[in-house]
Amino acid sequence: MRELWDALLPLGRDPASGGYRRHGWDAAEAECRAWFRSAARDRGLTVEEDGNGNLWAWWGEPGGDAVVTGSHLDSVPDGGAYDGPLGVVSALAAVDLLRARGVRPRRPFAVAVFAEEEGSRFGIACLGSRLLAGRLDADHARALADRDGVTLERALSDAGADPAAIGLDHERLRRIGCFVELHVEQGRGLVDLDAPVGVGSASWAHGRWRFDFAGEANHAGTTRLADRRDPMLTFANTVLSARKKARQAGTVATVGRVEVTPDGTNAIPSLVRAWLDARAPDAPTLAEVVAATERAAHERGGRDGVDVTVTQESGTPETSFDAALVHRLAELLGGVPVLPTGAGHDAGVLATAGVPAAMLFVRNPTGVSHSPAEHADWSDCEAGAEALARVLEDLVA
Ligand code: GLV
Ligand code: MN
Ligand code: MN
Repeated sequence: MRELWDALLPLGRDPASGGYRRHGWDAAEAECRAWFRSAARDRGLTVEEDGNGNLWAWWGEPGGDAVVTGSHLDSVPDGGAYDGPLGVVSALAAVDLLRARGVRPRRPFAVAVFAEEEGSRFGIACLGSRLLAGRLDADHARALADRDGVTLERALSDAGADPAAIGLDHERLRRIGCFVELHVEQGRGLVDLDAPVGVGSASWAHGRWRFDFAGEANHAGTTRLADRRDPMLTFANTVLSARKKARQAGTVATVGRVEVTPDGTNAIPSLVRAWLDARAPDAPTLAEVVAATERAAHERGGRDGVDVTVTQESGTPETSFDAALVHRLAELLGGVPVLPTGAGHDAGVLATAGVPAAMLFVRNPTGVSHSPAEHADWSDCEAGAEALARVLEDLVA
């Protein structure tokens, strides 16, 4: 496991920040894919890439009612080392552990790597699993563009993949008998419970909304305040509103990305574009928080002379993982804690598509994630891989 981890660790790491920049179909992510292919081949697994850019490494023949484990290798901009890769490395390590114990799977078994889970390049989280599960229109997806205007269609072609092949893959989806994703915890739940490993029970409803604030470009020195149509004001007020509405509803809301046009120090902007990431325990509460934020943005825009347009880019309802599978995993691991998460995962997308799915979480001592400071103690990572091997051994029997 250490060898696998050490070989992956330098790939896509920014030397200045220490964070990872591995984004769907870019050069760093391609190196990660090559690492996976090679590690899978070393283990005698047969790797195939599906039409949506997801990788599948089969132990034995591919087939139905398969036990599937894995996670993702892409990162947020300046992400941590563990979010995604820990699940993939642990899955391969679990294969080694099962082999060493003489286990021969009686069900088809695969390690999967899902593409563009973070949605950092094309804006939609869990892109690979969402396409596979038919939860995103293929034409819409092909037209998604990254920050340089490169479309997904083009990125797929450049990577040697067929853009026409993306979309619902009913047959492959039906083959997944169950999916277990191991992931570093992205909070301090297991720290508080004093447990190295836990089982995920549910994930919050979440989505992304793009807010376009359109005003009027003008001179920063000569335009009287009363004459301005400054979208930065409406934007700033909207960020504060989102935070307030989320606090009042007991949820979370974040604006982590903003683009300013023309982005000049001495010019009032013509356009501010910002992305709201909002999450709540259930979809109606989420909808209320976003609607209240939109109302506040329009109201403030009216006062600033700024037009506000809101576009939902993605959404995922609250997801409960498969109750029987969750129970089975927790029992197998001797009654480890079962806890929900505010993070989104491919396991959640597959669960909403009817796949029995569950997650294992590995303790994160600080709870920090989506940051270069993300960390897990190696002994906990080993405990996670061991726990994964235990549950896989039971599932493949
Ligand atoms: C994925 O990590 C997400 O929850 O945004
Ligand atoms: Mn993440
Ligand atoms: Mn993740």
